[in-house]
Amino acid sequence: MCGIVGYAGAENAVPVLLECLRRLEYRGYDSAGMAVVDQGKTLVRRSVGKLAALETMLGREPLAGATGIGHTRWATHGAPSLKNAHPQQVNDVALVHNGIVENFLELRHELGDEGCVFGSDTDTEVIAQLVAQAMARGATLREGVRAALRRMRGSYALAVLCAREPNQIIAAANGLPLVLGLGCGEVLLGSDVTALLGRTEDAIFLEDGEVAELTSGGARIWNAAGRLVERGPRHVAWSVEQAARGGYKHFMLKEIHEQPRVLGDALGAYLVGDRVALGPEPVDAALARRVNRVVIAACGTSWHAALSGRIAIESLARLPCEAAWAHELRYADSVVDGATLALCVSQSGETADTLAAARELRHRGTPLWAVCNVVSSSLTRAADRTLCMHAGPEISVASTKTYLASMAVLHLVALELGHARGVVAPETLRAAVRALRDIPRALEAALQGEEAIARVAARYADSEHFLFLGRGRNVGTALEGALKLKELAYTHAEGYPAGEMKHGPIALIDDKMPVVVVAPRDHLREKLRSNLIEARARGGRIIGVCELEDRDTVELCDDVLPLPSVDPLISPFAAVVPLQLFAYYVADARGLDVDRPRNLAKSVTVE
Ligand code: M6R
Repeated sequence: MCGIVGYAGAENAVPVLLECLRRLEYRGYDSAGMAVVDQGKTLVRRSVGKLAALETMLGREPLAGATGIGHTRWATHGAPSLKNAHPQQVNDVALVHNGIVENFLELRHELGDEGCVFGSDTDTEVIAQLVAQAMARGATLREGVRAALRRMRGSYALAVLCAREPNQIIAAANGLPLVLGLGCGEVLLGSDVTALLGRTEDAIFLEDGEVAELTSGGARIWNAAGRLVERGPRHVAWSVEQAARGGYKHFMLKEIHEQPRVLGDALGAYLVGDRVALGPEPVDAALARRVNRVVIAACGTSWHAALSGRIAIESLARLPCEAAWAHELRYADSVVDGATLALCVSQSGETADTLAAARELRHRGTPLWAVCNVVSSSLTRAADRTLCMHAGPEISVASTKTYLASMAVLHLVALELGHARGVVAPETLRAAVRALRDIPRALEAALQGEEAIARVAARYADSEHFLFLGRGRNVGTALEGALKLKELAYTHAEGYPAGEMKHGPIALIDDKMPVVVVAPRDHLREKLRSNLIEARARGGRIIGVCELEDRDTVELCDDVLPLPSVDPLISPFAAVVPLQLFAYYVADARGLDVDRPRNLAKSVTVE
């Protein structure tokens, strides 16, 4: 949700900032811009649309300067337009911002009464006006930023520069991520570490309320109380190669193909022989005894992972488990207390709804575990314990590999809790671990169906409506398949438990409504086949996600997305791959920008 970058060093900042912005474009792509200080002047370039438009503009109207900031926008206040693009400039102050100024109308009126003239509809301009106003009254840039922060309410990450103090950038964060990258004779700034890759592996994550000053000589940080903070950098293990497309047409396709390795890494991190070891210490026995309920909070794809995690936790740990939408949970009067274990699942660890739910759960005394891909994200900082997904950077806006990695972690949590509570028989535990260890092979096998899936996708590329059905462990799979198609191909797609179809959605079915049925060979296969026959009887064209050897199911389908033969426990892992590929190829056949679907951003850091 908006990407911020900054550079203070000896080189021309412009190409560096462009490279950093390219890595953050997944955070928003409604407009982009940058500002540099050159020969005593603050110079700004902005353009509407994707970063490529800014690059073209910089080709026509070049910029140069050793200190600069940049932005890629996902619009909140004010439509995507030139006047609303960042940096927002007031006099020689230029500012880029991620977040929402909650009291912006109030401030805008106050500033208007004082004679300020606004050139945009954004809340960001209000901050720039406040900084410029303070500087006009004699404040330094850092003092000006502090003065503005004192008057603002809400979460923010921002970076500011000013030609009067030409060699520095002031950055500040509260509730939203900002990372400083310490290089040799240069300091970089990014909304996340992917922005910094290739230039430095030493990163400092700003904490809430902190303000930083970046110059080519290094970075200084002050806490909310204004005291200097001594904090060394952390080494970032992600590499440039991990964040590059590696020959694939889109990041999404690359990330789908990475899944066997990612799952190998995620499972390898937590499995020791036929044992689960989520950390150096086994789950605290007192905690395992005390917990009588689990609540998983998440949004979007992470919530779909929670749906299958919920089933694993109930069946393996024998604990009642709820998979809750984080945005609903935070306002619900849920029955949670110190005996509830809260699991918050988030790829980014920055989703505002999930963070708010995490804080609410903590407030009610629950132990809180984060299942997260971005270590040092806000969620991991709020949690008692972090279980990393080990998926590496996920660049495509549509989540794929982190869906599988988070499901894997939730299954491991189920096993470890079950073991700690003494409710899993050793043989069940061994069999489950064996099945989980088979996931990378199963995913490789699922990927073998890619060409066949691309052909089926081409046949359905013009369909405007789809129904996705699944049962049991694969309800989440059906919902995820529908979400992928909505996000990527802008196609209406409904995901339902197959048993629910006859209670309403069946009215939608006709020959224009393909029905995608997730049909692994598990104990619900017969039930699912009945649903499939019901859909067929209404003229629905059936696309089965099933084993080619499952002749009884195959003969009921018009088309098949091949599913390898797997243990039912891991069928949600294998069955989602054909659906990811199906959505990818439908969107690609429609000529859409798969990695940057319209209206979306990778992490939704506003409520
Ligand atoms: O970073 P998170 O896992 O918290 O993100 C949650 C959702 O915003 C995210 O899964 C979203 O639904 C994706 N676009 C799915 O592809």
